[in-house]
Amino acid sequence: MRAKSEIEIKTPEQIEAMRRAGLVVARTLRVLREAVKPGISTADLDELARREISGAGATPSFLNYHGYPAVICTSPNEVIVHGIPSPETTLTDGDIISIDCGAIVDGWHGDAAITVGVGEISPELTRLLQVCETALWHGLAQVRAGNRLTDVSHAVEASVRAAGPYGIIEEYVGHGIGSAMHMDPPVPNYGRPGRGPRLREGMALAVEPMIVLGEPETAVLEDDWTVVSVDGSYAAHFEHTAAITADGPWVTTAEDGGEAGFAAIGQAALGRAVAAHVS
Ligand code: MF3
Ligand code: CO
Repeated sequence: MRAKSEIEIKTPEQIEAMRRAGLVVARTLRVLREAVKPGISTADLDELARREISGAGATPSFLNYHGYPAVICTSPNEVIVHGIPSPETTLTDGDIISIDCGAIVDGWHGDAAITVGVGEISPELTRLLQVCETALWHGLAQVRAGNRLTDVSHAVEASVRAAGPYGIIEEYVGHGIGSAMHMDPPVPNYGRPGRGPRLREGMALAVEPMIVLGEPETAVLEDDWTVVSVDGSYAAHFEHTAAITADGPWVTTAEDGGEAGFAAIGQAALGRAVAAHVS
């Protein structure tokens, strides 16, 4: 027997607050996606995020987190996660850029990330992004009461493996989320199913696959934040926060609660169930 789970259980009202935070994150990422163009700097994106989050009356969760110096993480090309926005980093046609964003409303958190192409990107990179986003939705579909934690991990891995010889990052993982951004349990993007704590209504997880075109080895740059692939291969990162309701996963950081994402992987029933929660 393992010790009693320390995973935070949220009341329906607390999950509603997480939804409000999630919507701020969703809307901010929508603005940023539209702003991504050749010539824009990652500092410009950070400024847009700062305005969007504070304009919504929310608090950015990354700023000052363990000394992190910006509102969002901007991770171009071979940067996997935690890239720091800079006026010197300008986007070029053909690049990809991962944008990670977190916000707090009434003390409750939302955390999500997207990777987008800058201008025209190659078919290989288009596919890298699709594979990572599809794996995220397969993981989110397993965030339901009665499942075990590694059912989520396994679903992510199986989805990536079925798509081709992509590298799955192991040193960085998803996490529980709620009254803090990073909580128990860690959520790996690989592993055998049927292990780990049992998932229950009121829990919430941030699922965040990171994959690369090459080998999954990572290194941290001199700034102590920027995580790159050692072989320089390009990376994708997608993330959503999902709360477990009686009707299944409510993706608090998707504007439609997850309906379109679940439909895209053939899980329309999950989408219909969460549609009732969308507000
Ligand atoms: N959002 C990241 C995650 O998904 C964490 C960002 S680290 C920070 O876990 F320092 F930038 F906040
Ligand atoms: Co996260």
